[in-house]
Amino acid sequence: MATVIDGKAVAQTIRSEITDEVRLLSEKYGKVPGLAVVIVGNRQDSESYVRTKRKACADLGIKNFDIDLPEQISEAEVIKHVHQLNADPNVHGILVQLPLPKHINEEKVLTEISLEKDVDGFHPLNIGKLAMKGRDPLFVPCTPKACLELLSRSGVSIKGKRAVVVGRSNIVGLPVSLLLLKADATVTIAHSHTSQPEDIIREADIVIAAARQAKMIKGSWIKPGAAVIDVGTNSVDDPTRKAGYRLVGDVDFEEASKVAGWITPVPGGVGPMTVTMLLKNTLESAKRSIEQN
Ligand code: GUN
Repeated sequence: MATVIDGKAVAQTIRSEITDEVRLLSEKYGKVPGLAVVIVGNRQDSESYVRTKRKACADLGIKNFDIDLPEQISEAEVIKHVHQLNADPNVHGILVQLPLPKHINEEKVLTEISLEKDVDGFHPLNIGKLAMKGRDPLFVPCTPKACLELLSRSGVSIKGKRAVVVGRSNIVGLPVSLLLLKADATVTIAHSHTSQPEDIIREADIVIAAARQAKMIKGSWIKPGAAVIDVGTNSVDDPTRKAGYRLVGDVDFEEASKVAGWITPVPGGVGPMTVTMLLKNTLESAKRSIEQN
């Protein structure tokens, strides 16, 4: 049976380290890290993610700057808000929750976020530096950073290993494959046009599942002893639950946990770590800004 990686426990450890550092900053400089979370519209999933992020900030002593904008707002207005946040010295991180409504060009908005405050790591320059040998971005995107942190804290080495990333989104699949490459893995990306992904996944020492397909990856697809990081958060109907649904990953946990060496559960695996990496990026940004001035 696989070792189940307890993302919640690891996240708790890191959060208490962050809380201590926030307190130290406040004692030494009289300043606390500030994070602006911008949400446009009323998507239920986005509202839930944003609530989680804002609560986590408050719990750790990081100051929230809540920007809630209506669905119909123009692109120019959203960019105006971003510029105001860029200019506010108390804001050390700016996160624009994705996806944005269809009439707003995501790339245009993300490019306007000051590089020094891009705690999501989605600015094209930060992604570009992530992709290049010998260069380092100011911020690494949170979910990819969470995946690597979970591997490292579980004692899974990456150098020279075969890693397969399932999914190629800008938020997870692409940046996590770049991070694995930087960590000297041999990386393959499988995606919706890959034929027989199971044949590729079976060769992987490390599997990162970010396909947004409930239980797509079966136990028989996993190489015995592999490390499996499941980024999927798919809601499936479950009439036995009060909410009427439950969350499942991209991996069939019941099957895969009998074959893998390590595996993350859903929920309680990558999710709590992603938010923690956002808090860590915000703290790092605040330290860079406060200690420089
Ligand atoms: N939407 C889904 N995941 C994310 C994330 O990590 N950051 C932002 N900004 N939007 C998201």
